[in-house]
Amino acid sequence: MHDYIFILGNAHDLCREELVGVLKTLGFDFSIQKLYPPQCVQVTVTQPLPEEALIERLGGTVKIAEIIAPTSSLDPQDLIATIRKKRTTWPKTFGLSAFTDKKLPLPKIAAVQKKVLEAEGVATRYVLPREGQELRSIVVQKQAVTEFLIIENNADFIIAETKEVQNSEDWGKRDYDRPFVDPGIGMLPPKVARMLVNIAVAAISYQSSAIRQEKLGQNSSKGFTILDPFCGMGTVVAEALMIGTHVVASDIAAEMVNKSRKNIEWLKSAYPKTQDLESRFLVSDAVHVSDQLKKNTMDAVVTEPFMGALFEKKGAQLYQKNKLVTLSHIKNTIKGLEKLFIGCFKNWYQVLKPEGVIVITLPEITIAHHTIFVKSVIDNCEKLGYTPVIGPLTYARPEAVVRRQVYVFKKIFNS
Ligand SMILES: C[S@@+](CC[C@H](N)C(=O)[O-])C[C@H]1O[C@@H](n2cnc3c(N)ncnc32)[C@H](O)[C@@H]1O
Repeated sequence: MHDYIFILGNAHDLCREELVGVLKTLGFDFSIQKLYPPQCVQVTVTQPLPEEALIERLGGTVKIAEIIAPTSSLDPQDLIATIRKKRTTWPKTFGLSAFTDKKLPLPKIAAVQKKVLEAEGVATRYVLPREGQELRSIVVQKQAVTEFLIIENNADFIIAETKEVQNSEDWGKRDYDRPFVDPGIGMLPPKVARMLVNIAVAAISYQSSAIRQEKLGQNSSKGFTILDPFCGMGTVVAEALMIGTHVVASDIAAEMVNKSRKNIEWLKSAYPKTQDLESRFLVSDAVHVSDQLKKNTMDAVVTEPFMGALFEKKGAQLYQKNKLVTLSHIKNTIKGLEKLFIGCFKNWYQVLKPEGVIVITLPEITIAHHTIFVKSVIDNCEKLGYTPVIGPLTYARPEAVVRRQVYVFKKIFNS
């Protein structure tokens, strides 16, 4: 057995769902366990994991570490002995990060470790977190740090060694270097878009009769086509191409379709592995997109739909274009969105393959202690031809007025 720790991004439940989905898609025989720190999960697997390929694939995993051993002692000498159970040589540069509510004396532990090692004739330097108790991925990567993790587990700790960290520069490149960005339309961060497409590919892979057991490195998403009918700047379609699916991008606004086309041209030149994948662009109302597509041809719809005009929070009040927003205004907005999404679900049924899925972020707004949500979409989904299979999983920036709830719906196919 091989034991790993995955350090997840902020939306823990969404990140965990993606991890489970990708491991299933790739045919690993594994078990997953939540640990006390909510961003940490333990994965036990019968064969070693391809850590480098996995960190590249997952949008919601920040670090992948291999478990060294559990320990009840954080005495620096005991820690050295624990680490040496797995390592014969001590790294030139080591770092310590802790995942626990307790404030651990990391500087003292590291300094004593350095002294003990020096006394043995082992020269080493250490790097510690500047803020909080966790080293940033970029520091681990740039300074070639061998990072040891101390993770609270029941009354004891797990010691693990980081094997891979997320390449934040590469994720940032796809977010900021593309020709067109427009924060005003509520774009998804690429990491969230990646989680959504990975969850979609997992749902169609392991729910379809022919379970794919292809390994990472070969293309586990090969042949699938993903449609984003509210494509905006094309963030979802870009991340779908990055994992090897074909894409169809549509939007009601011709300007958005153009921008997303240009962004995908840029992506294809920056990431040659995406060049041979098909990408089609259509101008269409999402409610009528089936007019321009063949029936039963899409494996999945993955989308962050229109969420209503943007709100601004000032203290406890919400404003829209400098006008105070009332509860009844929000209720009306949500009603309008329910109508739009129900129309979409009806229409997308036509283009989805029999085992097709919808992965969608649905808006939820809290105002004056009331939470308003597009409930009738969920309540009516069976009537519309879908079974809800995952959700709600929350994705929201801390300051966000509109929270996104991620759901997965599977098409009910009556042959
Ligand atoms: C929240 S944005 C999508 C942003 C996108 N996920 C991204 O990251 O760039 C919603 C998009 O829906 C489009 N839209 C609004 N109503 C629509 C409709 N009825 N059909 C299709 N697109 C629509 C808007 O033009 C906008 O580009």
